Amino acid sequence: MRAPIITVDGPSGVGKGTIAMMIATKLGFRYLDSGSLYRSLALKIYKKNKNFEAALDNLDEYLKDIHIDFQYTPGGKAKIFVNNEDFTQKIRTEEVAVLASKIAKKKSARDMLGDYQRNYISTPGLVADGRDMGTKVFFDANIKFFLTASVEKRAERRLNQLKDQGISANLPNLIQELLLRDKADTERLISPLIPAKDAIIIDTSDISAEEAFDITINIIKENLKNL
Ligand code: C5P
Repeated sequence: MRAPIITVDGPSGVGKGTIAMMIATKLGFRYLDSGSLYRSLALKIYKKNKNFEAALDNLDEYLKDIHIDFQYTPGGKAKIFVNNEDFTQKIRTEEVAVLASKIAKKKSARDMLGDYQRNYISTPGLVADGRDMGTKVFFDANIKFFLTASVEKRAERRLNQLKDQGISANLPNLIQELLLRDKADTERLISPLIPAKDAIIIDTSDISAEEAFDITINIIKENLKNL
């Protein structure tokens, strides 16, 4: 029997990373931030070729030399390495997010990262967050959450996260960037951002991360009685 899998999907700024990490810490599960894989892949390719669109046309050439390694210690912090170089901080800008959403439309990139994500399953269980965790990569997950929130709230949270990381940004620009990225992510042909049919939808606009975590953990406890 495979280890239990919990997926947490949703657009940027809904708090899915924070909540997924809280769940993973509580349960002692592995945690995977799939967005950081897309960001890292995009940034690595951009560093190799600033003409990103041209690089995307020749993606297979780049993919074969790229090795991504996501690491997470329960209760600690997530780290990501590309060909042994630490990318953890440098992938956190909105510019990199935009590159990520461009590469995310490419089947070969999704196939490569999809394999990486599926290989990440391990005992005692996995919590994975992203856009297509419950619809595609882990379509047979035990429990699927889909988080939503108003774009204003999401942009505010993003602004605070960026500030904490010493990255400057302003609210109106962030709102525009999030709307554009939502559009690209929901309208793409492969693995678009949509809730899985069996996902539990939680609106986090007016609740704290702790409150959202309490809701999710109660549902998990009810559904995974043997935990
Ligand atoms: O979650 P995060 O904002 O880090 O994701 C960056 C981008 O990576 C998203 O806007 C999306 O285009 C892409 N992504 C994806 N599938 C995932 C995770 C992220 O397409 N599972």
